[in-house]
Amino acid sequence: MENTRLTGSPAGIAAVRSEKDVRNPYRPSPAVIRAITVENEARDIKTFQLAFGDEAARQAFQFRCGQFAELSLWGVGECPIGIASSPLEKDYVEFTVKRMGLVTSALHDCEVGDVIGVRGPYGNGFPMSALEGGRVVIVAGGFAFTTLRSLTRYILHPQNRDRFGELVVVYGARNPGELIYKQDLQEWSRRDDISLHVTVDGGDAGWTGLVGFVPDILKRVAPSSENAIAVVCGPPVMIRFCLPVLSDLGFTPERIYNSLEMRMKCGIGKCGRCNIGDKYVCRDGPVFSLAELQRLPKEY
Ligand SMILES: Cc1cc2nc3c(=O)[nH]c(=O)nc-3n(C[C@H](O)[C@H](O)[C@H](O)COP(=O)(O)OP(=O)(O)OC[C@H]3O[C@@H](n4cnc5c(N)ncnc54)[C@H](O)[C@@H]3O)c2cc1C
Ligand code: FES
Repeated sequence: MENTRLTGSPAGIAAVRSEKDVRNPYRPSPAVIRAITVENEARDIKTFQLAFGDEAARQAFQFRCGQFAELSLWGVGECPIGIASSPLEKDYVEFTVKRMGLVTSALHDCEVGDVIGVRGPYGNGFPMSALEGGRVVIVAGGFAFTTLRSLTRYILHPQNRDRFGELVVVYGARNPGELIYKQDLQEWSRRDDISLHVTVDGGDAGWTGLVGFVPDILKRVAPSSENAIAVVCGPPVMIRFCLPVLSDLGFTPERIYNSLEMRMKCGIGKCGRCNIGDKYVCRDGPVFSLAELQRLPKEY
């Protein structure tokens, strides 16, 4: 990779890619940043809306909810990020990124019009065929809401809504300023086909919503476990306290799913960076049922 930030016409960049490049699984496709949304008051979480430079790359990026991609900046590096938009949004793909270190900081310094690299989609995604026809309980904390926002949007799409049963979403952040996807939350709160419970650990003067930790709110909401699957993503401590609540509600380990955020390198099951026992989190995951996780060595 050249040691410059690649900007300019993605169509022009795509034109110089040879057929051999296209077959190289490590070769990213260029995508232009079409919009950037600052999600939180701390301004360290941003959503990037990307559009692929060429039609072939756009067509090739057919993803399922719960999958991820490797985002790269020329001369900096790449990192795995979950896909935050719905597969039904065909013209663009969105990623919500927290500023952590090298790559994510460089991404945060990008502007609309800059071109970055995308390779993927990777991973198994959420168990969509198991989710269809039943209740879906989504439990999210902090910025781990990203792939669950994709799932929520997908279920709520008019084309899909009838294919799923009751939809319960419990989402929490530390304080109101840390809640992400505020526009989605507002739109969903006006609908009667989603049971939405947004909570903060501590409110402020303007906050009129729920106050309390996600596991406590989950206990209070007490979603039915009948013909239901729960998908839980968030900080490890939140997940640890949510699991007994779900268990008390009757969710068996086979019906609770979690997405793991292990360190990754290749993203395609080649380098061995992400393995737990005989599983590669990038290829066999990142989504696992609790029953599967209970059979793995405790390395995550
Ligand atoms: C499948 C998957 C999906 C992910 N989805 C998202 C997402 O939607 N949004 C998002 O913001 N982040 C997501 N992450 C985490 C993201 O990949 C890391 O934050 C990123 O790799 C950090 O890269 P960096 O170069 O900025 O930081 P580095 O310079 O590599 O590291 C900076 C700091 O971050 C820590 N760190 C690096 N990688 C990880 C990791 N995977 N997990 C925890 N800590 C890490 C390091 O220990 C260090 O303290 C996901 C990770 C995986 C595996
Ligand atoms: S990241 Fe390389 S094998 Fe999973």
